[in-house]
Amino acid sequence: MPGRVVADTPVSTPTVEAADASWLRAPLESGPAAGFGVYLHVPFCHHRCGYCDFATAAVGAQDPDDVEVLFDRYVAALITDLRRQVGAGRRAHRPSAARDEVPDDWPVVTSLFLGGGTPTLVGGPRLARVLAAVRDVLDVAAEAEITVECNPETASPALFAALREAGVTRISMGAQSFSPAVLTTLERGHTADRPLAAVEEAAAAGIVHVNLDLIYGTPGESDDDWRDTLARVLTSRVDHVSAYALTIHDNTAFGRAVSRGTMPDVDPDVQADRFALAGEVLGAGGFRHYEVSNFARGDTNRSAHNVLYWRHGDYLGVGVGAHAHHGGRRAWTTRSTTRYLDAIEAGATPVTGTEDLDATERGLERLLLGLRLREGIHPADLPPIAPLALEDALDAGLVETSCGRLRCTESGWFLLDEAVDRLTGG
Ligand SMILES: C[S@@+](CC[C@H](N)C(=O)[O-])C[C@H]1O[C@@H](n2cnc3c(N)ncnc32)[C@H](O)[C@@H]1O
Ligand code: SF4
Repeated sequence: MPGRVVADTPVSTPTVEAADASWLRAPLESGPAAGFGVYLHVPFCHHRCGYCDFATAAVGAQDPDDVEVLFDRYVAALITDLRRQVGAGRRAHRPSAARDEVPDDWPVVTSLFLGGGTPTLVGGPRLARVLAAVRDVLDVAAEAEITVECNPETASPALFAALREAGVTRISMGAQSFSPAVLTTLERGHTADRPLAAVEEAAAAGIVHVNLDLIYGTPGESDDDWRDTLARVLTSRVDHVSAYALTIHDNTAFGRAVSRGTMPDVDPDVQADRFALAGEVLGAGGFRHYEVSNFARGDTNRSAHNVLYWRHGDYLGVGVGAHAHHGGRRAWTTRSTTRYLDAIEAGATPVTGTEDLDATERGLERLLLGLRLREGIHPADLPPIAPLALEDALDAGLVETSCGRLRCTESGWFLLDEAVDRLTGG
């Protein structure tokens, strides 16, 4: 969810070194070969942060008993939705299949992602029920990555123990910043120390793969605030960092404050500098910058689920505001929790839109997504590119070929749309 940063300063990121390039040997083609994921959305937060336009509802001010009832209702709907989608897909291929038969015609699940909102708000036992339901209807690979998004405010040793017991392998935690002043601006309810304490709790429970989400370029953040935040990351045991440029969405409290003139807008030049600093500091600290906004301590710690998205893989989308992709067909559901619950409970579909990509659109999407990755795109996965268009993009310094693959240059990464326009003659 990166903002589009146009860098006008040189950006330093780690270069791909042969000794470290295990991806070269990996079978990593786009599309179905990239794996099969399941995304499940839990649309609740204690408080909606002023910058956030995710599909979520703030429940912090509601009667706690009503909230418990709502959580139970939502989890039941999520499981029903999942079962219906898997069953419908199975019957489309094998009309004679029995409703409760374990399907063997769905691909093996290679990654599961419980995202939000704040999935951990509904508690470990409910999330365990959701994960058990997935295993009940789909084959989940023994080594599948199972990620749960978590707000440090509501994390605890008991929660992590329950998640570990349920098979969770990875936590993605919203830290955003280690500057108290920036956290206040971002309306975060946790202290600056809480995210790293929660990382330790997760590790003690046996969950060693932890991502921290960071936001840079918040109005009022200084270069030193960002430098200190990055330095704190390096003192921790996290193996993954997602660093996002703050995006101001019109339909958020921040968007309204900016349009009223009570909050300054973000400065793209400042954000480009902070982005460069993230590459330098995290790179020097042993992280590899493997995607526009993502850094991992070694290739094996990359987010398998997100890499699946960027390789144009297939995935189910379950829950409010969830997106799915299967063989060039995209589908998405309502962003309203009320409408979602009403639809599922009435036996109706929560899907509010679909889009079928033709071969040209699929190729374009594969190019746009694949160029987000440092590894770039294997020639077999590239859509047809006219030799002159390729020459043009190479000459402009936007893309390069490396180990036979096409990828963005460091400056081209920030001008992805232009790189794709030139490659496609657009
Ligand atoms: C679903 S939340 C993560 C988990 C949890 N809800 C939390 O915030 O702690 C996903 C992440 O998206 C990022 N994000 C959300 N809105 C953003 C915005 N407007 N600009 C930049 N990043 C944003 C934040 O880093 C956030 O942690
Ligand atoms: S950033 Fe996270 S906690 Fe804040 S509103 Fe968005 S989903 Fe909820």
